[in-house]
Amino acid sequence: MWYNTNNYSRKIYDVSQGGTAVKGIIMAGGKGTRLYPSTRAVSKQLLPIYDKPLIYYPLSVLMLAGIRDILVITTPHDLPLYRELLEDGSRVGFNIEYKTQSEPNGLAQAFIIGREFIGSDSVCFILGDNVFYGRDLTLILEKAMARLDGAMIFGYPVKDPKAFGVVEIDENKKAVSIVEKPEHPVSDLAVPGLYFYDSSVVDIAAEIKPSARGELEITAVNSRYLELGKLDVTLLGRGMAWLDTGTPDAMLKAAQFIKAVQDMQGFYISCIEEIAWRRGLITYEQMMRLGESLKNTDYGKYILSLSE
Ligand code: DAU
Repeated sequence: MWYNTNNYSRKIYDVSQGGTAVKGIIMAGGKGTRLYPSTRAVSKQLLPIYDKPLIYYPLSVLMLAGIRDILVITTPHDLPLYRELLEDGSRVGFNIEYKTQSEPNGLAQAFIIGREFIGSDSVCFILGDNVFYGRDLTLILEKAMARLDGAMIFGYPVKDPKAFGVVEIDENKKAVSIVEKPEHPVSDLAVPGLYFYDSSVVDIAAEIKPSARGELEITAVNSRYLELGKLDVTLLGRGMAWLDTGTPDAMLKAAQFIKAVQDMQGFYISCIEEIAWRRGLITYEQMMRLGESLKNTDYGKYILSLSE
């Protein structure tokens, strides 16, 4: 499919490989205890990063990947709030379903909870508190989906990888090992919270055992794919910003980053109405109506300023 927007025209990959669709899962549960008291009453991923709820950022990544079917997994307490915010997604041209995770038993539980939703499709899994921004993000996502054979994770160089899953690669950029929060990291490549899996992830997740900290780790799923020789790593370079939002400081830094880029470039980051329009999910008129309903804010004014 080809589409035209303001200044460019290019190919969108069909969001399927060999007839298999790609679905999206956003993990937006957890207790957010590192952000107490802010998250005592409300889910972390509903808090704002500058001018929009945190969940808009991962949601927009799935939209940029061309994914139309999205499952949001959150706590029973927060589910009504997400429904109020995002409804069924049709406002911006996609389908959102919801499921609950009663306790934060680990990220890999998403594939047990989402088993039916995934069915025989592939899945792009993203953490509700991860922010990605950068040149070629859409292209990187499309390429990842096009060549998916097993699992695809990303590697992102960081100064202190101890707080993350860490992947080691060989000279051919093949994964050699992957460890969750290693005491002594063997590489500086952190694994961001964005993953692609084929449908066998549901069986793999069902087989893994809880870690020492009692969680079904996403790293255990990735390790299994590695054992099977089916773990692909794509390196993200300097042109990509990956922001963690786990602490008040990290949230503030992310907000400052978003504001700086938006002020400087005049383009908004993760404006879901704009992405829906550019991706052909809604018409210009539909987008204008959405902008009209938000016209008291700079966010709404930005939407209204977009020209056909
Ligand atoms: O941010 C990337 C990192 O995310 C990866 O490098 C690690 O391999 C991966 O384990 C994960 O590490 P974190 O320590 O950041 O995960 P955390 O427990 O903070 O969970 C990430 C988000 O997912 C958080 O917003 C809460 C939500 N969550 C977490 C768990 C464990 C759930 O919704 N359910 C859960 O069971």
